[in-house]
Amino acid sequence: MTEPRLRKQKNTKEHFDRLAKEYDNCRTFDVKPVYHLARMVGRDEIRLCDLGCGTGRYLLPLMKILDELGTTVKRATGVDINPNMLEVAKMRTEGFEIPVDWVFAPSYETGLKSNSVTMVTAFNSFHHLPIESTAEEIKRVLEPNGYLAIYSRTKDQEAEHIWGKHFPDYLDYSQVLDREILGGLVKYDGYKLIEEKDFSFKRYVPFTRVYEQTKNKHYSTLALYDLDDFERAFDVFVEKVKRSYDDLETITYESSYTLFLYKKQS
Ligand SMILES: C[S@@+](CC[C@H](N)C(=O)[O-])C[C@H]1O[C@@H](n2cnc3c(N)ncnc32)[C@H](O)[C@@H]1O
Repeated sequence: MTEPRLRKQKNTKEHFDRLAKEYDNCRTFDVKPVYHLARMVGRDEIRLCDLGCGTGRYLLPLMKILDELGTTVKRATGVDINPNMLEVAKMRTEGFEIPVDWVFAPSYETGLKSNSVTMVTAFNSFHHLPIESTAEEIKRVLEPNGYLAIYSRTKDQEAEHIWGKHFPDYLDYSQVLDREILGGLVKYDGYKLIEEKDFSFKRYVPFTRVYEQTKNKHYSTLALYDLDDFERAFDVFVEKVKRSYDDLETITYESSYTLFLYKKQS
């Protein structure tokens, strides 16, 4: 493993350590893709595994919505390598009878039984996971005809996001993957892509919020800059944003993601 890769891993871990307790306030939750996914799956019963589950921000609503749509969630497992993020997830479900386990493990060694999961999900996390070993692990744990759902911003969507557009060198630092990679898991035997669906949301935020999100490095990409480079880039970003939007009380920008849904070929 090369030095820059180790440094990235360290900075990313520290980023999630630091933000765990306030993570849900840092990021926006979009319910539409979760409903879409729950409808696509359409099974009577389901077992879930969410890789890079973080605080359970997407897994818990997914379980609720599946239940609402008539799918019984037999068991769900949230897998993450960050104890602080898992701690928040655990606190959230403590005292409730929710069929969920929070597991401290890497995506490529979940400890789950083979053929034991109906759908593996990865919300905003796939670009943090080692692809090849994770793809193998997913194939192992999935039942025949099971699903893999990856919800992520693609590199082209990252370029259109407010930080991609205005924060200097953001795309060079971003670990978000190209659409071809996220939609190209068919190169690993046993995966068939059955849907690739874009979701776009308009965000309306005051400049003060964008300033705070950036200064406090709410996105892991911002944690990858050296301190001096970050400070310089931050100043440029602030000026560019001020110049680019007429109404700083309500900055309007587009935030887009794609859902890649795969089916395991038995
Ligand atoms: C951007 S957060 C997304 C969290 C959650 N899915 C969400 O949308 O709020 C990425 C998560 O992936 C986790 N992660 C990074 N590398 C991982 C790995 N190899 N195995 C499992 N989790 C990992 C991080 O600790 C972090 O909690």
